[in-house]
Amino acid sequence: MAYQTTDSIYKRRSIRSFCKDEISDNDLNFILSSGLSAPSGEGIHPLELIIIKNDETKEKIKSFYEWAGFCTESPVSVLVCYDANKILAAGYDNDDLGKLDAAACIENMLLRATDLGIATCWTHALENADDYRHLLGIPKNIVPVALVVMGYSDQPFVAKDQFDKNKIHIDRW
Ligand SMILES: Cc1cc2nc3c(=O)[nH]c(=O)nc-3n(C[C@H](O)[C@H](O)[C@H](O)COP(=O)(O)O)c2cc1C
Repeated sequence: MAYQTTDSIYKRRSIRSFCKDEISDNDLNFILSSGLSAPSGEGIHPLELIIIKNDETKEKIKSFYEWAGFCTESPVSVLVCYDANKILAAGYDNDDLGKLDAAACIENMLLRATDLGIATCWTHALENADDYRHLLGIPKNIVPVALVVMGYSDQPFVAKDQFDKNKIHIDRW
């Protein structure tokens, strides 16, 4: 299947080394707005975003989760969270919907950043939810899903098409 190597869907890569060049407020707001424009189950829109620029905060994140440690090199990261209370109040018996909404938001942000030539890496936050709550004063009902690390990088975006026809099932398994 032909694909455009300039297409952000194929060009986006997880990048883990950054220079400290700032992302402009315009670009950051465009990325955030793209994230919050993702679909939301039942239109609940439970997401909350915490923008992290403070160097001391980044060092603390590195100390409890090494796989996001490279956030210390980048100018800004976004902690994508959802409000579990909003989902439960809509009548659900669990808050899974929040994780799905967060994933859609995160992917939109990654793709918009790629459009803008900004490198990103999705890093897991669910396992360290309490560490993030403690560090950032986040209430218990707010669930941190991922820290999206972003910035400029010398590492190239290498376009890759991962289509695999063996993963496609027509009409039944
Ligand atoms: C749910 C999820 C959690 C991830 N967590 C981390 C993480 O904690 N640290 C990290 O460096 N990369 C993390 N990644 C990035 C993956 O390692 C990366 O997407 C994968 O290796 C494929 O590489 P690519 O993104 O360049 O295509 C995560 C990705 C997803 C979707």
